[in-house]
Amino acid sequence: MLTKAFIEERKLARDSQFFMKTLAPTNSEGDLRFVLEKLGRLPSDFDRELLLNLLKHAHPSIRLLAVKNLGKLKDVMLLDAISKFANSETDTATRREAVSAIGRMRTPKAIPLLIEFLKDADPKVVLQAIRGLIIFKMRPEAQSALTELANHPNELIQDVINQELSAKTESKPEKQPAHPKSLDALKNVIVHADVRDVLSATPDESVHLTFTSPPYYNARDYTLYESYAAYLQFLTDIFREVHRVTKEGRFFVLNTSPVIVPRMSRAHSSKRYAIPFDIHPMLTQIGWEFIEDIIWVKPERTAKNRNGGFFQHRKPLGYKANSVSEYVMVYRKKTDKLIDWNMRQYDDGTVEASLIEGDYEKTNVWQIHPASDKVHPAIFPTDLARRIIQFYSFEGDLVFDPFAGVGTVGNAAAMLGRYFFLAEQEGQYVERAVWTIDASLFTNVSPKYLNLTEFRTILNKEKE
Ligand SMILES: C[S@@+](CC[C@H](N)C(=O)[O-])C[C@H]1O[C@@H](n2cnc3c(N)ncnc32)[C@H](O)[C@@H]1O
Repeated sequence: MLTKAFIEERKLARDSQFFMKTLAPTNSEGDLRFVLEKLGRLPSDFDRELLLNLLKHAHPSIRLLAVKNLGKLKDVMLLDAISKFANSETDTATRREAVSAIGRMRTPKAIPLLIEFLKDADPKVVLQAIRGLIIFKMRPEAQSALTELANHPNELIQDVINQELSAKTESKPEKQPAHPKSLDALKNVIVHADVRDVLSATPDESVHLTFTSPPYYNARDYTLYESYAAYLQFLTDIFREVHRVTKEGRFFVLNTSPVIVPRMSRAHSSKRYAIPFDIHPMLTQIGWEFIEDIIWVKPERTAKNRNGGFFQHRKPLGYKANSVSEYVMVYRKKTDKLIDWNMRQYDDGTVEASLIEGDYEKTNVWQIHPASDKVHPAIFPTDLARRIIQFYSFEGDLVFDPFAGVGTVGNAAAMLGRYFFLAEQEGQYVERAVWTIDASLFTNVSPKYLNLTEFRTILNKEKE
């Protein structure tokens, strides 16, 4: 039986008869695929004709593997053949592989060919051509062809071009503290004020993670907005500021759900607002990059029953689902740096102490029992905050909640060795937050309760 080891051995033995036999176009597609997939590194004298012949094979997967193997030879003499093949190839994955093979030759002779492929209708082919051209980006012809793509309609192409051609500013302005650090004036603080004022006093790039649950439009009675549009604008303004105060590449996690504003009378219908879906485009426009959609599922018995009428009449169009879920949307402050860059900011001890040990939820469906509070009508469970803080911050990080309520995020942050920074405009909730965190058996953190003036004064002192 043919094995990878045997193919390897035949390669070393320069057994051309063996390869003529196993790579004959008349062999079955399965056999050909097996050999082509197991060829591994090719000796520079490998018989190109065997592979070039397979570029005419009826099956695209064989053509793809053949051109992939030709690419491994990095032979400039093959440039014309591969380029002609790429131009006539109809299967897009195979064309992509052919352009990648041209790029991998790393020869200036490929520049004009790759520039032609920048006009391809398939964005993935264009991306492969960009990859091949980037190593020549200092050459004027490559640079001007790449620069022209800055306004390409495809967003991935735009991102790559902007990232590659913009001057890299690796070092941050000196006034920024080191990435893991945050101002002492913001640590374990609860500010009793409108969060808009709190944010306007907060310096750029201060916080590592924000986790929050904003007011639910006019569905609860603690906040009233003139209109849904005004409500979305209010949130957008705040989340733009949250973006400013968030450190590069760090996370913003938003818990919301569609809400119902009850009907005026039996002659009217109630209205449902899809808050997570309506706020999402606004967040991406601000510069938050979408990362995860986590669905928080509660036990069915805890959901409000909307099913009564339908249960009786069973008529189509009248179905109403009992809502047992909320959305926990995860965003990252857009950057061209990889997550690894953020991880590398921390010393080994901090990374070790922040590891998520044992079992954890592997899906995006999180079953968590809701929480209730005798003072606040809409708190989220500590377990939800705990998971988010563990997954998206390191020990010693600063976790922000602009709509802190009774301080669930603060409590969870303190339990996990993170600092918290909370804003809440209702005095009774602030008092409860201070009391809860202070009295917690799991921490010995005493929160600083500040009004806006005190907050500004403390911050200014530290900034001096
Ligand atoms: C859904 S609750 C958050 C509850 C919180 N997650 C908890 O577990 O306690 C939203 C909170 O935002 C607060 N809030 C609304 N508008 C605000 C504003 N402009 N500034 C600060 N807090 C505000 C409300 O008073 C309410 O407590």
